[in-house]
Amino acid sequence: MRERREELSELARGLARTPKTVSSRYFYDERGSELFEAITRLPEYYLTRAERGLLTRIAPALIEEVQPRALVELGAGSARKTRILLDAMTEGGRAAVYVPVDVSEDFLLETADRLREEYPALEVRPEVADMERGLRLALRPPTPCIHALLGSTIGNFTHEEAVRMIAGLTSGMRDGDVFLLGADLRPGPGKSLEALEAAYNDAVGVTAKFNRNLLRVLNARFGTDFDPSRFRHLATYDTGKTRIEMHLEALTAHAVALPGGPVISFQEGEKLRTEISCKYDRAAVRSLLGQAGLKMVRWWTDERERFALALGAMTSEGGSR
Ligand code: AVI
Repeated sequence: MRERREELSELARGLARTPKTVSSRYFYDERGSELFEAITRLPEYYLTRAERGLLTRIAPALIEEVQPRALVELGAGSARKTRILLDAMTEGGRAAVYVPVDVSEDFLLETADRLREEYPALEVRPEVADMERGLRLALRPPTPCIHALLGSTIGNFTHEEAVRMIAGLTSGMRDGDVFLLGADLRPGPGKSLEALEAAYNDAVGVTAKFNRNLLRVLNARFGTDFDPSRFRHLATYDTGKTRIEMHLEALTAHAVALPGGPVISFQEGEKLRTEISCKYDRAAVRSLLGQAGLKMVRWWTDERERFALALGAMTSEGGSR
């Protein structure tokens, strides 16, 4: 866990910037995690369903090809999608090791207990770690191992952060190990710009609640006095940056106190950027993996090309194909 003082100065720096920004890490308190779970069930939020359908389709062939003895899942959460891979890995009672990695210890241990009951042939070794700070597992998983980063989590990082993170996560990979990445795709023939933006602007306003909840998290964590009702939710696709940007826009001019720091003033209509959600195509994923020292060896998309899974393997040259 980051030091509170370090976090507070990072927050102050972000609020002093133009446009103002805040780390999307603060979405996920208990309420935020529940709201995100609700988002994944919304009719507009196609990402989770598209990825699950795709995983179901490719899992048997993937497992047949890699013959994994272990799965390390980064940002495991409730491990709902993971079961698709675990089912294929443990078919016929085959033994396997599952290493769910998450920042939230309580959630992780609960998930681990449930999976131990469900999969008697599975050795579950949960690890608490902050993915952004690299990954050093306490125990080396057996090889071949699938390292998985699913759910479009990678999209919430800038390109530089994403390269650094993948390189950190895969630095312990050995011959035969692979990296499985879930990435949301840019608008195209099967996905309109409207459908993409609707995924972040649902009709019943769950995403707006999720966005505003971040201010409550800041208030609870840092003693700021943000009033969520003074902001409205905005989410738009930036075609040039190929990413959704989520903002909170001040409805009126007002000031917010930052304990031990300056007063932050908002103009009417001024935006606070709360999240980026980068969207990819095949070349962008290949380049991302290449810069992190991996070669893209497989690429799958759902039938409508809304979501992709990519498989990266180690390359002795450290370059992309
Ligand atoms: C967690 N992450 C992949 C989600 C996304 O789509 O970028 C977070 C989210 N933000 C708004 N809706 C969902």
